[in-house]
Amino acid sequence: MAFGGARMKVALITGANKGIGLEIARQLAVQGCTVLIGARDEQRGEDAARQLRAQGLDARFIQLDVTNMHTVEEAAREIEHRFGKLDILVNNAAIAQDTVPPSQLDLDVLRRTYDTNVFGVVAVTQVMLPLLHKSDAGRIVNMSSGLGSLTQTSNPDWGFAHVNLLAYNSSKTAINAITVQFATELRNTPIKVNAADPGYVATDLNQNRGHRTVEQGATTPVRLALLPADGPTAGYFNDDGPVPW
Ligand SMILES: NC(=O)c1ccc[n+]([C@@H]2O[C@H](COP(=O)([O-])OP(=O)(O)OC[C@H]3O[C@@H](n4cnc5c(N)ncnc54)[C@H](OP(=O)(O)O)[C@@H]3O)[C@@H](O)[C@H]2O)c1
Repeated sequence: MAFGGARMKVALITGANKGIGLEIARQLAVQGCTVLIGARDEQRGEDAARQLRAQGLDARFIQLDVTNMHTVEEAAREIEHRFGKLDILVNNAAIAQDTVPPSQLDLDVLRRTYDTNVFGVVAVTQVMLPLLHKSDAGRIVNMSSGLGSLTQTSNPDWGFAHVNLLAYNSSKTAINAITVQFATELRNTPIKVNAADPGYVATDLNQNRGHRTVEQGATTPVRLALLPADGPTAGYFNDDGPVPW
């Protein structure tokens, strides 16, 4: 296989062995990117990468558990060694484990959720940033959710206001803040940092209850991953445009 072409974009998607992450990887590969399927489980990651390669796409598995710093650093070393840069980072991996109202939530669920959905995103972003600086058009896409919007969730008339998940929703609100903070630090560089709301998508995260397909859910994150130089940074978007914070 030929690697290292000047125009070739390298994209890392965390939690890409299934769901929206796998579809983001597929769509970016269709657009000509080399996609790195970040997955914590070797078998599931290899299977997903093989599935994309069977469609003629340039995909390879890279072991990455966002809660395990050793695997994050090892993944960065491998990307540096193979490609010398990273063009696109999609922080997609997340968990949702709330099953009770906020007043009854076990703090361990909150800690576990933040470990993956918040600290994992910060850790991966910090470790991958030196590689994104080596790209001439670095893009970071943080997978948020409409449930992270305080404007929406505080409005009792909003369609999903009843989905009142302390750990998951607040982890996505934190991701929105973290998106703005990294974007602010990187504003005078080519790197753009945005948050994506994929809508309510049928995946294992919600026992496949979502009413949108993964193809639809991947549209906004893929658009943000391929933004042109005059595109936005520090934004929060779904398919209809900006989402209120
Ligand atoms: N589905 C929706 O309606 C919806 C709506 C709004 C936002 N989102 C967001 O979209 C993103 C993708 O969600 P999804 O619906 O596609 O969920 P999903 O099907 O459950 O996929 C989640 C992915 O994250 C991975 N993951 C979990 N913990 C990880 C860790 N510690 N290290 C590495 N990977 C890890 C999972 O790997 P394993 O297979 O090993 O568990 C899986 O590949 C998430 O950020 C989610 O919050 C989804």
